[in-house]
Amino acid sequence: MTQQTPAHTLIMSDLERQRFRLMAQNAVASESQLWATAGIVPGARVVDIGSGPGAVLVEMARIVAPDGEVIGVEPDHRARNAADDEIAATRVACARVIDGTATATGLPAGDFDVVMVRHVLHHLGSAVPEAVAHAASLLRPGGCLYLVDTPAGQIREGAAGFDPDAIDFGEAYVAFHRQRGSDVTVGLRLGQLIADTGLHRVLEETIDSVVPGHLLASHGPMVEAIPAMLAAGAATAADVARWRAGLARTAATPGVTLSIPQFIVVGRRQPLI
Ligand SMILES: C[S@@+](CC[C@H](N)C(=O)[O-])C[C@H]1O[C@@H](n2cnc3c(N)ncnc32)[C@H](O)[C@@H]1O
Repeated sequence: MTQQTPAHTLIMSDLERQRFRLMAQNAVASESQLWATAGIVPGARVVDIGSGPGAVLVEMARIVAPDGEVIGVEPDHRARNAADDEIAATRVACARVIDGTATATGLPAGDFDVVMVRHVLHHLGSAVPEAVAHAASLLRPGGCLYLVDTPAGQIREGAAGFDPDAIDFGEAYVAFHRQRGSDVTVGLRLGQLIADTGLHRVLEETIDSVVPGHLLASHGPMVEAIPAMLAAGAATAADVARWRAGLARTAATPGVTLSIPQFIVVGRRQPLI
């Protein structure tokens, strides 16, 4: 099974941290009922696979505190460092991040109330079924797997609109991921993945997270992917110059926003009778 290394480099600028924090706060505001239904409640033990810079990790840790625990699993050391900073800055006591991958977390099977896999599956190429099976194996009987992804092509511009060169960049970025073998529309198949793993689907929702365009236009996963796109021949220096100019115009446009739909499916492991 191939498992890809991240296409983005996760260099944590302040703007990028702000974007992750904003999306985590949006999740707290719009998903709190779903989190509670899945078992993210005081005292719960939670795994956050592909926890990135830890913005969602610390929000879940605030909820499970003081007796619960949230363990982030993250292969990128820069993201782990950023998460360590986030944990220290927010002073949450019951969160930590370990080195590992979605198919090899190193965590004990059958031990956790909830496993969160958020905006990670589209990075995994052909390893998606193995990753979902591994995540499900970590659950105690009755525990829940919480999958979130945004299928390519579903992100919408707000009324202020994005510059055409910025939109062209977005299309090239998606094509690059497709070419690398990523399943960029895996978010449309979360329910099937849950069923294939033998879990019982308990909820399915799509919730928009609205992000001001400048947080994505100046940084964000697309900009971070530029070196990999150049190295792979998926972009020329002239493309990058044109895209950057388009992003700069977008960032300078007042009121520009993107609606990023969070496709969410939660599955429960059969409880012991
Ligand atoms: C878009 S970020 C999402 C971070 C976080 N889950 C959130 O929603 O804020 C995707 C994360 O997946 C991580 N990732 C990439 N490949 C991975 C793999 N094979 N196993 C686990 N995590 C992986 C990346 O390093 C990155 O931190």
